[in-house]
Amino acid sequence: MRKTAFIGGDAMQAGKGKAMFEQVEDYPVDPIMIGAEYFAQDPRTDKLNLTVGVYQDEGGQTPVLKAVKQAEQRLVDTQTSKSYLALTGDADYCRVLGHEIMGDAFDDSWVSAQTAGGAVALRVMSDLLAQMPKPPTVWLQTPTYGNYVPILMAARAQFAHLPYYDPLRREITFDQMLDGLKAANSGDAFLMQGVCHNPTGADMTPQQFDAVLDVLEARGIIPWIDLAYLGFAQSWDADCAMARKIAARFPVCILCITLSKTFGIYRDRAGALFVKTGARERDRVHRAVSAIVRSGASHAPDHGASVVRTILQDAGLKRLWLDELEQMRARVFGVRQQIANTERTLLGTDKLAYIAEQSGMFSLLPLTEVQEDALTRDHGIHVVKGGRVNVARLGPNDIAKLIRAISDITTPK
Ligand SMILES: Cc1ncc(COP(=O)(O)O)c(C=O)c1O
Repeated sequence: MRKTAFIGGDAMQAGKGKAMFEQVEDYPVDPIMIGAEYFAQDPRTDKLNLTVGVYQDEGGQTPVLKAVKQAEQRLVDTQTSKSYLALTGDADYCRVLGHEIMGDAFDDSWVSAQTAGGAVALRVMSDLLAQMPKPPTVWLQTPTYGNYVPILMAARAQFAHLPYYDPLRREITFDQMLDGLKAANSGDAFLMQGVCHNPTGADMTPQQFDAVLDVLEARGIIPWIDLAYLGFAQSWDADCAMARKIAARFPVCILCITLSKTFGIYRDRAGALFVKTGARERDRVHRAVSAIVRSGASHAPDHGASVVRTILQDAGLKRLWLDELEQMRARVFGVRQQIANTERTLLGTDKLAYIAEQSGMFSLLPLTEVQEDALTRDHGIHVVKGGRVNVARLGPNDIAKLIRAISDITTPK
């Protein structure tokens, strides 16, 4: 203790202390975040930002849903305390959400935790896996959500890649993915997405999904499903089918969800982690999740989760929200059809027709890196590195501009 006090008072040591942050290394910048920065720096007035994964209506707005506003008002009127909840959050929220997503397959065998969005659910699970005495490998679809690898790396979890989609051929590399799974060991986890695959927009058919589950079951690989866009493919109910199948079939499985997109509450950070385990380890898993939450993000924010719970528990609010979700889904679906139709009308070609077959906000443009750069440089159209575009950010006049620009940069001069 004395020694510490002495060192702390030493002028030379104090000088060294000043240099502490000089050793901070250069961290990689998230390609989506840097995309937004480049966009902000672009002086052109007719520039187009297709980078960020946020829904926009025809007018370019990301509105607060009416159902959310009404639920918020109810909370203001009725909430009596803002005291801490359990480390795993509001049990009612988890129960209502679990039943919504998994139906009858959601029972007492699940450990549930409210989390700050889906990202923290993913992080808590990654920490849990990494801290096991024999850490399993997490197998990832490639390409996939850009934050999986940073989250797994920050947790020091083990992971490996499987091919998922070929952007130039515009199709899922299904056989290669299944073939790659042969290298996985029993007890490893396969992290897959639910509907509206980010960044490809290409979802497995129900038959392909069943075939994946057959392989996982046969090889003892744990399904880990991450849900971010429920309701944006067919409907809220239909889009829960993948999770329901997993939950009904596997005694051990993992589910992460973010409500950011489905309820339009991005900044409120509502999500959840659900882990299905055997009875013997359930309490241990619950304590492990609580301890990881405590030492990391700590208590999840309540507001977004309370809004979601309020909506799901009230038939009228739920109907209103489902209508609004359907409007968002229909807009994204409509933009996809318009892209294919406009290309056909303007150019007589079908190169982007595949976009009309995909779902959710994202698709990958079949562009080389040079072409991607030219799209931004020559036309002020900003996309995420790798060609991801958010079709929900296209207004009525943007579609023809995008198609002409793609034609320009892909036509040999
Ligand atoms: C597939 C997927 N999972 C998880 C997330 C994380 O969501 P949130 O930022 O709401 O935590 C996202 C966000 O874009 C996503 O696309």
